[in-house]
Amino acid sequence: MEPTTVRNKIMGQIQHMLDHAIIRNRRFLDDEQLIKAEQLAVLEEIFNANVRDVEIRELSSHFAPVLRHDHPVHLAIWGKTGTGKTLTVSYFLNLLAQMCAEKNVALRYKHLDLSTPMPCFRALNDLACLLNASKRYKKGISLEELMLRIESALAHYTGYLVLFVDEVDNLRRDKDTFMTFLVRRLPQRIPAKLILVFVSNRLDWPDNLDPRVRSFLKLNEVVFKPYDAVDLQRILNIRVEKALHQEAVEAGVIEKVAALASRDHGDARQAVALLAKSAYLAEKAGSRISLEIVDHACSEIEQDKYVTMIRTAPRQLQAAMAAVIQCVSNRSREKGETGEVYHLYSTCCHQAGLRPLTRRAFGDMLNELDMYSLLQSHVVSRGRYGRTREISVDLPDELTGRIYEEIKRSLEM
Ligand SMILES: Nc1ncnc2c1ncn2[C@@H]1O[C@H](COP(=O)(O)OP(=O)(O)OP(=O)(O)O)[C@@H](O)[C@H]1O
Ligand SMILES: [Mg+2]
Repeated sequence: MEPTTVRNKIMGQIQHMLDHAIIRNRRFLDDEQLIKAEQLAVLEEIFNANVRDVEIRELSSHFAPVLRHDHPVHLAIWGKTGTGKTLTVSYFLNLLAQMCAEKNVALRYKHLDLSTPMPCFRALNDLACLLNASKRYKKGISLEELMLRIESALAHYTGYLVLFVDEVDNLRRDKDTFMTFLVRRLPQRIPAKLILVFVSNRLDWPDNLDPRVRSFLKLNEVVFKPYDAVDLQRILNIRVEKALHQEAVEAGVIEKVAALASRDHGDARQAVALLAKSAYLAEKAGSRISLEIVDHACSEIEQDKYVTMIRTAPRQLQAAMAAVIQCVSNRSREKGETGEVYHLYSTCCHQAGLRPLTRRAFGDMLNELDMYSLLQSHVVSRGRYGRTREISVDLPDELTGRIYEEIKRSLEM
């Protein structure tokens, strides 16, 4: 091939990509990359568009007494994932702090983010860090010591202290110790007026609390409803404005993304992710974002979920899934029986340097995989030969292939 043609090809492709650029500012498609000020800017616009109006009104009336120097009770906030709890509460508290500053009311707020499961120790340590009362420890310091440090950091502050405990259901070990500390001990030991704000996406969260804490805990509750399609359209429109070239989005795309996301759970995070995926696919294809591309993005996201699930699964479970895939792709009738799958599983284990589990434990793993919809299993009767389980995989071939590759990589088979 002539060097000039390659050169022209590359330049042509690059020019094509530039001419058809869809994404103007990638960061607005990925919240993790947004800095706080930008996040608040996106929010300002969205809340001006009457999204989360009801919830914001409830938050406002809950905290209004602060400006009269009165002391509101604690607050519990529930709502499904992606309904804007973290964003709305952060935004609200930020604004409240500004208003209080203007009116000479001393108010501070701290956001204790428990978005990954953690024991009491970590949560207390994080809280102490937020208050500049401690460094990060792995161990070697007692819970009591951490509590004392938190108390002494607050020994001289007499204003309001709003402690926003996000995803509180992620507390794993010594949950009651942590809650008892916050609800009973801390308010008695510091001069500040403490207002706790617990956020969770599980409605049943307070049922698991120690009854002594629960009876002590006076709570006001606010529920965040799932976003409806109209809210999601507003949220998406602002993203499109910030992140994309407007003309790159075909008519009906926003409506479709919003409809798909609201049909599931009204999860705004999911809606933004779907928009982002569509934009990436369109950019790769050098086209505008069309309805077909949204469909395509939707099924890719769906598939990515399965692949992530298997990537993070325990190795034994991966071996079991590999055996199932080998079995159903080996033969034409597309169903495997427990016996042969178990045999293949043992082979996989040997290849991966794992010790095969018993048949019974293997059966439990099949149930687990069934629960994740990675396979289907039915018990069938073989008359006097007893009963057996038939196993099938009802996923697109391409996805099955990706899952298998993922497992092979993980198990080094
Ligand atoms: N009102 C909104 N305006 C713009 N984007 C929003 C809004 N609400 C939610 N989002 C989007 O959804 C994502 C999730 O929102 P948020 O983190 O507040 O949800 P959450 O209710 O705290 O969910 P979880 O229970 O999973 O923590 C945000 O990162 C943002 O992309
Ligand atoms: Mg959250």
